[in-house]
Amino acid sequence: MYFIARISFLWLLICANIINAQLTPNFYARSCPKLHNIVRTTMALAVAREPRMGASILRLFFHDCFVNGCDGSVLLEDTPAFKGEKNAYANQNSLKGFKLIDIIKKNVEAKCKNTVSCSDILALAARDGVVLLGGPRWTVPLGRRDARFASLNAANVNLPPPTANLATLISIFASKNLTARDMTALSGAHTIGMARCSSYRSHIYNEANNINAGFVAARMSTCPSVGGDDNLAPLDMNTPNQFDNSYFRNLMARQGLLHSDQELFNGGSQDAWVRLYAKSNYALAQDFTAAMIKMGNISPLTGFNGEIRRHCRFVN
Ligand code: HEM
Ligand SMILES: *[C@@H]1O[C@H](CO)[C@@H](O)[C@H](O)[C@H]1NC(C)=O
Repeated sequence: MYFIARISFLWLLICANIINAQLTPNFYARSCPKLHNIVRTTMALAVAREPRMGASILRLFFHDCFVNGCDGSVLLEDTPAFKGEKNAYANQNSLKGFKLIDIIKKNVEAKCKNTVSCSDILALAARDGVVLLGGPRWTVPLGRRDARFASLNAANVNLPPPTANLATLISIFASKNLTARDMTALSGAHTIGMARCSSYRSHIYNEANNINAGFVAARMSTCPSVGGDDNLAPLDMNTPNQFDNSYFRNLMARQGLLHSDQELFNGGSQDAWVRLYAKSNYALAQDFTAAMIKMGNISPLTGFNGEIRRHCRFVN
């Protein structure tokens, strides 16, 4: 009797989990107890070798979540059935970190075969990258499954371009149920990583009235008005490999690298949040981590939907 009751209770739990489809931090506690350790150690090695990797993986996660939800779709190569997201405007010649995700996945598969999704690996790796660069820690809800499909078109429509104005930025994030405040806090990610000349050229050459003169001169020296499209500049020139609130102080000093960055502090509705985050690392940590969890919750595949991909670049 007790045995049967126990079995049906377990079934109830399992079914409730599937129907409820909530992500939970201890999703792999039994099936892959070493998961967190494997992701963290692999990320630590990679970030020690090339600090920018922390930034690249964080961006990869953002670009995954904003296109059909956090489902690993960004990792897929083109197939005869669909054109993937890697060649979308915002991604081509720009997204990095795919090889590192492959390495983490390989290390995870070696200990826990066919168990952990690529989308969850990406979510954990993004958090670890931030922490490794000195940023705040948050607990990552898990249990996402991987998409069998990716969409070039959805990527072109859903990812914000650096030319976007504040209203457009707010509405793109609103379409993912993220508030303007979430958007501003999440933009704090631009305290790490690099951008290509082609992403910020028009900002430094055509908006001289809205940008610090010394900053413009420095940026023009490595970003000519013609050519040098792939020349890199740090999104935060003060501490490019440190996850801190310096990005927001830059905005207040009119040293935003992208047009979209400076839009957050240009006499509009987000000025007050920029001022707060520039002043308080604590407020930034609170809002950034809360918004990362919200972003990580965008339309995950759970239960019987999707699959646990064996290789992150290919559907099974
Ligand atoms: C608010 C709208 C956003 C726009 C318009 C935007 C745009 C961009 C652009 C144009 C670049 C440089 C790409 C290149 O030139 O190769 C970039 C880099 C980056 N973005 Fe954003 N971004 C936004 C929000 C976010 C969010 C929400 C995150 C993460 C939470 C994020 C994380 C990053 C990181 C870490 C990099 C540097 C990547 C690297 O060095 O590999 N961005 N972003
Ligand atoms: C946003 O919220 C609405 C209403 O709750 C929901 O129908 C929609 O699926 C959500 N969108 C995303 C991308 O989560």
